[in-house]
Amino acid sequence: MASRPIFVVAGVGNASGTGGASARVFSNAGYRVALIARGSDNLKKLAGELTAAGGDAVAFPVANYSYQEVQTVFGAIRKHWPDGEIRAALWNAAHGTWKPFLDITEEEVDESLEINVKSAFAFSREAILSFKDLSLNDNGKRGTLIFTGATASARGNTTTSVFAAGKFGLRALSQSLAKEFGKQNIHVTHAIIDGAIATDRQKERRDPEWFANADVRLDPESIAKSYLYLAGQDRSAWTWELDLRPAHEKW
Ligand SMILES: NC(=O)c1ccc[n+]([C@@H]2O[C@H](COP(=O)([O-])OP(=O)(O)OC[C@H]3O[C@@H](n4cnc5c(N)ncnc54)[C@H](OP(=O)(O)O)[C@@H]3O)[C@@H](O)[C@H]2O)c1
Repeated sequence: MASRPIFVVAGVGNASGTGGASARVFSNAGYRVALIARGSDNLKKLAGELTAAGGDAVAFPVANYSYQEVQTVFGAIRKHWPDGEIRAALWNAAHGTWKPFLDITEEEVDESLEINVKSAFAFSREAILSFKDLSLNDNGKRGTLIFTGATASARGNTTTSVFAAGKFGLRALSQSLAKEFGKQNIHVTHAIIDGAIATDRQKERRDPEWFANADVRLDPESIAKSYLYLAGQDRSAWTWELDLRPAHEKW
């Protein structure tokens, strides 16, 4: 029997958001899961949770999302599962700064472009190198590379100049890769998350009614199910860009 495919997710945070939910959904669907984030405590906890539920998940903490760290962590993943096939990868990490333009520092510009764009280049490179020599799977593809975007991926606004510059850059990367590698049966896809996601961080900021109301907020698990759907699309009809928003979003 072929070994279970590997799903790599970078940007798991405290496991309450999209990265954590994607790890759970892909694990339940039979993928082995490589968890990448800064800081190991939450990662180890999530790996333990998935393993206890019958999955095979391993924490790969990084000190930061530098180009070099991202390349190195893929080496560790390949070493851990030497015969494993990385078939799906999600770049979910992001750097968010929301400020009026004149308040933005040079350091914030560097951080946004480093994490939202440059690190995503490193992640994409490693994911594509992992996919490119694999045989076609049952869906006629070698692998699926997914990017988490935001409203700011397609629309700038007041206070979003530095975040939008990073997320536009990420979207441009994903479209270019989709065109270049589609011809090699590598599926590159981008999701515009057009609304607020019900993570622990949002719970602290918003009132409990908002958090409990599925009409107005995005549930991380719902996003993750869409990502699993993208990974399962076959080559004759696959999506480059998906946008996801709650039913009552004012868009
Ligand atoms: N939350 C929302 O309302 C919302 C709305 C639209 C789009 N999004 C997008 O959804 C994705 C996941 O966010 P989430 O809110 O679901 O999950 P989350 O748990 O809040 O995760 C945020 C991610 O960003 C990373 N991150 C935050 N600050 C960083 C920094 N200074 N340097 C490096 N990395 C940093 C974290 O990295 P670690 O894993 O290493 O901690 C974490 O993976 C992001 O791409 C975000 O832009 C979020």
